[in-house]
Amino acid sequence: MGEASLRAERPLAVVILAAGKGSRLGGGDALPPKPLLDCLGLPLLEHVRRALAPLAAEHTLVVTGHRAEDLEAWLGASWGGARAVRQVPQNGTGHAARLALEALPDFEGDVLVVYGDVPQLASTDLAELLAVHRAEDAQATVLTGVIAEPGMLGRVVRDEAGAFARIVEARDATPHELELREFNTGLYAFAAGALRTALGSLSTDNVQGEEYLTDAVGAVRESGGRVEAVVAPEGGALLGVNDWADLATAVATLRARICTEHMRRGVRITDPATTVIEADVAIEPGARILPVTHIGTGCRIGAGAKVGPFARLRGGTVLEAGAEIGNFVEVKGSTVGAGAKAKHLTYLGDAEVGPRANVGCGVVTANYDGQAKHRTHIGPDASIGSGTVLVAPTSVGAGGRTGANAVVLPDHAVPPGATAVGVPSRVLPSEADSGEDAAGHGSPEEQAGESTQS
Ligand code: UD1
Ligand code: CA
Repeated sequence: MGEASLRAERPLAVVILAAGKGSRLGGGDALPPKPLLDCLGLPLLEHVRRALAPLAAEHTLVVTGHRAEDLEAWLGASWGGARAVRQVPQNGTGHAARLALEALPDFEGDVLVVYGDVPQLASTDLAELLAVHRAEDAQATVLTGVIAEPGMLGRVVRDEAGAFARIVEARDATPHELELREFNTGLYAFAAGALRTALGSLSTDNVQGEEYLTDAVGAVRESGGRVEAVVAPEGGALLGVNDWADLATAVATLRARICTEHMRRGVRITDPATTVIEADVAIEPGARILPVTHIGTGCRIGAGAKVGPFARLRGGTVLEAGAEIGNFVEVKGSTVGAGAKAKHLTYLGDAEVGPRANVGCGVVTANYDGQAKHRTHIGPDASIGSGTVLVAPTSVGAGGRTGANAVVLPDHAVPPGATAVGVPSRVLPSEADSGEDAAGHGSPEEQAGESTQS
């Protein structure tokens, strides 16, 4: 859906609730605050930001509270235009929404309230919610989902006619209400005035002793306002993240969505079920991704490149057209040139691999000296023998070769066209000079001809 078609016909404010403790995650301060937990290479809240962006709201308010400094630092750096509203103490979702509206005293129009722990929400979910809200001229519209076991989620209670009656939290529900399968996704549209009035009437008379936003929806209904409950077609994909199992569910949903998008564009993924492609990975049509492969955010993969099975590409990796990364190969912060190959049991970290170079089995770029990372340059058409360790910073020139198990130290760079063998490596005399190898370590052919290629 295009941006223009999602733009508000009347003023829109968006309120994102992100002040909660995330106490069901355990782990305490060693973890980032829940809204900043990693979800396929991006913080949870960044997924929410992206879903909201096409709506181009006039006001964006993020309610912060628990670990507010961390969250506000992230907002300042990553969410231009968002305003933080502090909620201290965190006395429930209704309390949070009330503080946000107090920060918009004169606002008239629609208010979209979104829980910051639903990274799977899509722009289309929000557009559908707003479209119904406006078409029905409702004072409140809630997006719901239907699943077999809504667990601890709030249940949507409807009257005999099937119209929305109220939302009851699982903790406060009767056994009969707990059997309801329609749940509250935590995505709502309100008329600003109706929301203000309803939030003024909330009690804390519930199991958690908090002001519930869910009660505000019921209050709009009780005061005679029009309330719509819209069932999302894929409501099961809109489960909030409260614990690690929920995060895994959210990741699975987004992961499948990302793989599908790549496949629709012409990327050949053999087994999306075992393929993790994080957010913001660029893959050209015609590339192939084989099973059990992990591709980190920020990687770029050219046409005809082949990755996996059992491969891991980490941040900043670039595979140019036709490059091949095979099983049990990890690549980090490296560029692998067109048609170059590293097919077995290799680590390439902070490396430049030239076009058509072949990196044999078990090659390691030793990029870390215990203090700092260093780069390795492998020239075009070079051939790195099996088991070679390239101790960075070092290089192998264009067409250069290393023998099996060579250890190439920083001050032993292999010149273009030369062959180096041994530990530490030494450059063999060129063919023209052969016979002058007084050390007698065997013929160059014996030592240099060990690189694998398949
Ligand atoms: C909430 C809903 C529930 C719904 C579910 C959907 C309420 C009372 N319950 O339950 O009906 O099915 O979401 O995922 O709203 N937050 C604040 N300030 C607070 C408390 C929470 O900003 O004082 C934020 C949290 O950071 C979170 C969101 O509000 O992003 C939801 O809070 P959470 O405690 O996760 O509510 P649920 O129990 O999941
Ligand atoms: Ca939640």
